[in-house]
Amino acid sequence: MYASIGIDLGTDRTRIFSGESVVLDLPSVVAVMAHSGEAVAFGEDAEKMIGKTSEYVNVVSPISRGVIANYDEADIMLKNYLGRVCGNRMIKPRVLVSMPGGLTAVQMRSVINAVTDAGGRNVCLVEAPVALAVGLDIDFTKPYGTVIVDIGAGTTDIAVLSMGGIAQCLSAKCAGCDFDEAIIKYVRHEHNITIGPRTARQIKERIGCVIPRPVEIAMKAKGVHIFSGRPQTFEITANEVCEAVSDVTENIISSIRQVLERTPPELVSDIAKDGVILTGGGALMHGMIDKLKEALSTSVRLIDDPFRTVAKGTGMAMKNFSLLKKENDYRFRALRDLVIE
Ligand SMILES: Nc1ncnc2c1ncn2[C@@H]1O[C@H](COP(=O)(O)OP(=O)(O)OP(=O)(O)O)[C@@H](O)[C@H]1O
Ligand SMILES: [Mg+2]
Repeated sequence: MYASIGIDLGTDRTRIFSGESVVLDLPSVVAVMAHSGEAVAFGEDAEKMIGKTSEYVNVVSPISRGVIANYDEADIMLKNYLGRVCGNRMIKPRVLVSMPGGLTAVQMRSVINAVTDAGGRNVCLVEAPVALAVGLDIDFTKPYGTVIVDIGAGTTDIAVLSMGGIAQCLSAKCAGCDFDEAIIKYVRHEHNITIGPRTARQIKERIGCVIPRPVEIAMKAKGVHIFSGRPQTFEITANEVCEAVSDVTENIISSIRQVLERTPPELVSDIAKDGVILTGGGALMHGMIDKLKEALSTSVRLIDDPFRTVAKGTGMAMKNFSLLKKENDYRFRALRDLVIE
C-alpha cells in the first residue's frame, strides 16, 4: 500500500503517517510470554494488562524517555505496527522516524536497526522538533529563530530552529510520566495510599493543574492502604495535584531557560517577538500555557493537534524530502550502510 511512511516513535504512543493522514496511533506497549518472548498482545490490549498479568506474561513499554530501551520488544512491536500499515507488500517502505534531538550514535543506530529489522527498506532519522515545524508548515529555513517545546510522556524536547536546522536543543528527562510519578509519591506520603501509574495518570488528566484553579475540584480514586493492605477509596483535590507536580513543572521551566540562555542573542530577540510554540500531551495540563507565559515572560501558543503533528510532519517531510535536505545531511540509510559507522 504505502511506499514511504513517517513514524513518531513516542514513549507513550507510536504514530504512523502515510498518504494524507495518521494511519496508526497505538500505545507503545507489547505483552510477551516471559519464557519464550512471543508476543501475546499489542497496543491498547497490552496496555490494559499493565499491573494485571501473571508471572508468565511481561508487559513492556520498549520506548523509554524517547529512545529504545528494550530492543527485542521494540522490534516485535514495530514489526506488528508496520505490518498493519503496509500489509504483505513486495516493496518495503522507506521510513522517516522522528526522535528527540541530541541522541547518541548508539541510540540512533538502535532505532535504524530496529526499523530496518521490522521491515523498513531504508531509514532516516529526523529530530522531532524539525518534524513538528514541517507539520506546522513553518518556514524554518530562514535565519530566524523559532522555539518549540514538546512536553511528551518521557521527554520535554526543547529546540530553537533556524536556517533549516537546530540551533540549540535539549531533550529533558522530565515530562508526563514524571507528573504521574510525583502524584504516586504524594498520595503515598500524604494519604498513606499506594496507587498505580494508570490511576496517577487518570488523576493528572482529569483534574491535574500547574497553577491553582480558581474553583477547587476533586475526584475519588482507588488505591491500597499502606498499613492495612486493604483497598481504599480516597479523594484528591486539584490543588493537591498542583502541589504534587510543582517540582516537575519547575524542572521543565528551568530546562527551557537553560536552552534560551545558550541561544545566541539575535535568535532570542526573534523568539521574544514570536513566542514559544507548545505541543505534546503534557502541554494539556491545566494552566501550563499561563505558567510558561509568566515564567518565560513571552507569549506561548499551544498548537491545534499536540499529539499527532510530529507524525504528520514526518509524513509531509517524506513527500517533500528537499525540505530537510536543504541545509542538512539528512539521508536514508539501508542496513548495509551501518557497518561502516
Ligand atoms: N489532558 C491532559 N492533561 C495532562 N497530561 C495529559 C493530558 N492528556 C494527555 N496527557 C499526557 O501526555 C502524555 C502523552 O503525550 P504524547 O503523546 O505527546 O507523548 P509521546 O509523544 O508518546 O512521548 P515522548 O514524545 O515523550 O516520547 C502522557 O503522559 C499523558 O498522560
Ligand atoms: Mg512525542
